[in-house]
Amino acid sequence: MILDISINFSYLISAIFFVFGLKLLGSPSSAQKGNLISAIGMLIAILATLISKQIIDYTWIIVGGIAGSLIGVIAAKKVLMTSMPQMVALLNGFGGLASLLVGWAIFYNNFQIDGFTASTIFLSILIGGVTFTGSMIAYAKLTYKFISKPILYSGQMIINSIVLIAIVVMGVIFSIYPATSYDFLIYIIIGSLILGILSVIPIGGADMPVVISLLNSYSGLAACASGFVIKNNVLIVSGALVGASGIVLTTIMCKAMNRSITNVLFSGFGAVKAKAKEGEKKEAKSLSAKDAYFVLEAAQSVVIVPGYGLAVATAQHVVKELSDLLEENGTDVKFAIHPVAGRMPGHMNVLLAEADVSYDKLVEMDDINRTIDTVDVCMVIGANDVVNTSARDDKDSPIFGMPIIEVDKAKNVFILKRSMASGFAGIDNPLFYKENSSMIFGDAKKTISQIVEEF
Ligand code: TAP
Repeated sequence: MILDISINFSYLISAIFFVFGLKLLGSPSSAQKGNLISAIGMLIAILATLISKQIIDYTWIIVGGIAGSLIGVIAAKKVLMTSMPQMVALLNGFGGLASLLVGWAIFYNNFQIDGFTASTIFLSILIGGVTFTGSMIAYAKLTYKFISKPILYSGQMIINSIVLIAIVVMGVIFSIYPATSYDFLIYIIIGSLILGILSVIPIGGADMPVVISLLNSYSGLAACASGFVIKNNVLIVSGALVGASGIVLTTIMCKAMNRSITNVLFSGFGAVKAKAKEGEKKEAKSLSAKDAYFVLEAAQSVVIVPGYGLAVATAQHVVKELSDLLEENGTDVKFAIHPVAGRMPGHMNVLLAEADVSYDKLVEMDDINRTIDTVDVCMVIGANDVVNTSARDDKDSPIFGMPIIEVDKAKNVFILKRSMASGFAGIDNPLFYKENSSMIFGDAKKTISQIVEEF
């Protein structure tokens, strides 16, 4: 009795740690602390669970713990910032697989279960299976191990719906007659794994970060269902937290791209590359790093707009160096952050934090847009879609309506990239051809280093 109370009390403490951890993760300045508090919450939950069971032999638990920790530490140390979405996809996938296996194992050990437990096993397997294979396809698409473009064929939605309906029908039968429906459970496992593949292949690599966030939410829901299966309160709570936060993040990302979640999941965005309107294109001007220096040296205000290319070039440290030099020269420097710049939420914030750029220099898109017409120079560093003026001006553009940082309204715009190539959405950018725009071609790190040398 006392043991039961202390275990549940420990679970309550863990849940409180998770909630506070999540809250602190909401801001870059407190995120590290949030991560640590959540990890402590998880440690308490694991210890309490181990104590609550009459474990006869710890061998496999210790082996699993050591192996998992080693893989986790090595993967986290080695992963590049640009590969973070892939890593999250793998983590989600294995979370889903774990839920599937827990549900399956519980039933395999005891066919005599009630209808409620059977229905939670069904949900744990369905959501876990879809999460596992869906995440593996997302990982493969992002790493170009699988066709990154959307794979579309006629009747796709109908086929997916038939597979889902068949799984649900078998799930209902399994929940009513669990003891005699083991075959159905096996079909549900196979069907869920197939459904995960079928539902992610029509989505293009460009939308994968949103899909990964959604799959993150699914992995939480699968864990929550597993919590009901094994009657573990902290698993129910933590699964629900992951499920809810994943949905919130997915909604934020869709909103920032001005797309609905149904558009992301079913439109096959990126299947056809958009072309610029003929006749609209003028010549883009190019500028040398040395000439850029002269303008920057005289500028009173500079706004730096970082994008995915900054991460590719690992130019964050040299950008910080440049911003320090500009400030020493009496220039007001700010960093304008678009909510979906880069390839994952907060990508730019994390990169700039790594280079010790102070948080008060970071300005959100809506705030910078209000005063951008007074800025002397906007330096667009490895960003493209998030400053693409067709999103604002061209009703026929696939990204029309997506909010952008309106750099074209500044007095001068420097665009640092290697070529005239399009960004993630595969769309030409009219900004490059504007009167006040100048392209500074080359790897962003090299270009900025040259400007720094001039200073
Ligand atoms: P992008 O539109 O992808 O543009 C990045 C640009 O960086 C490219 O045009 C590329 O041009 C340039 N680049 C690459 N390597 C470079 C290097 N070494 N040096 C200099 N430039 C380099 O990036 P963005 O503006 O950050 O937009 C993000 C896109 O991702 C949006 O379409 C957004 O919707 C999508 N997305 C983001 C998220 C999140 S949460 N961030 C989620 C889903 C989708 P060159 O090849 O010519 O150099």
